[in-house]
Amino acid sequence: MHDKHELTARIAGLGAFLPERVLTNQDFERMVDTSDEWIMSRTGIRERHVVSEGESVATIAIEAGKRAMADAGVSPEEVELLVLATATVEQPIPSTAAIIQPALGIKNATCFDIAAACSGFLYGIHVARQFIITGEVKTAMVIGAETLSRYTDYTDRATCILFGDGAGAVILKAAPAGEGILRSALHTDGTYADFIQMPGGGSKYPPNVKEHIDARLPFIKMRGNETFKVAVRSITEVCQEVLVGAGVTIDKVDLFVPHQANLRIIAAVGERLGLAPEKVYLNLERVGNTSSASIPVAMREAIDRGILKRGDLVLLGAFGGGLTWAATLLRW
Ligand code: UT7
Repeated sequence: MHDKHELTARIAGLGAFLPERVLTNQDFERMVDTSDEWIMSRTGIRERHVVSEGESVATIAIEAGKRAMADAGVSPEEVELLVLATATVEQPIPSTAAIIQPALGIKNATCFDIAAACSGFLYGIHVARQFIITGEVKTAMVIGAETLSRYTDYTDRATCILFGDGAGAVILKAAPAGEGILRSALHTDGTYADFIQMPGGGSKYPPNVKEHIDARLPFIKMRGNETFKVAVRSITEVCQEVLVGAGVTIDKVDLFVPHQANLRIIAAVGERLGLAPEKVYLNLERVGNTSSASIPVAMREAIDRGILKRGDLVLLGAFGGGLTWAATLLRW
């Protein structure tokens, strides 16, 4: 993809929100045939946050969005675009972005959702950046928000232990090329559409048919082991693609913030890219896999802990249902 533009987007503010309720590996030991030892050694996950009654993907997305605007010091009226990435929509109609617009007060914003599963946040950044590059929009909001707990089959031990809920949001503003987002790449391969899927709840197996619910179709299903292998290869390749595109070698990268799916996937990608382990930001032990929320939530933590600093060269890499994969290289 050509990337010769005078303008780019920079992240002017970042907000994140994790629901209060926590599910630990011990909780799962009581729910399915598993153990803390298996979950830790196979995934690196110890606990995840999940929404409580009264919360939903909209409520946590609103909180993250408000925090991002406060962090950027922008007023709601300035936001001209909201791209919301989620695999766990508030309801099929209307878009979750439209539902949360009034609560955010972003009345001048065009609002829509995108579906790219765990790569959704990087897809959203890429899409919003295009609006900024063309000059159509000066200030945009991108949110990655998920309530995977509402779509998780808590009788399926191979998937239920992975997922958590959360939301992360950024404010993007126009910036001269060479600052902010330097390079971004997106990929899709729908021949692997059945690797991570929720078959029920849509047009093929509508939610209003009892047999579909009885067959547990409106739940997330994953071919974990096969997904694992494609994930390692794809994230590595797309990260290399943005580095080459930007003319940057891996030793110049200060921090890699990957989608937090599985510690073993992240370790394998880090090794293949030639990254020192201390340059890889990890928080999946405490939050699990929060899909599109994963990267902004991890970035917010890295900033708050003083690990992600102004001027750092940051590489983001994600992978998820579609299959989709994406990477973004930016100067923080
Ligand atoms: O978010 C974006 C995309 N998602 C991912 O990137 C996830 C990718 N995949 C994974 O993270 C891993 O494949 C899993 C963590 C899901 C599974 O790990 P694995 O090493 O690939 O295990 P497996 O699926 O090959 O299963 C190995 C064994 C099986 O038993 P048998 O058939 O060998 O007797 C499973 O039944 O582990 C069993 N198993 C469990 N045992 C205890 C599966 N889940 C559990 C569990 N506790 N929770």
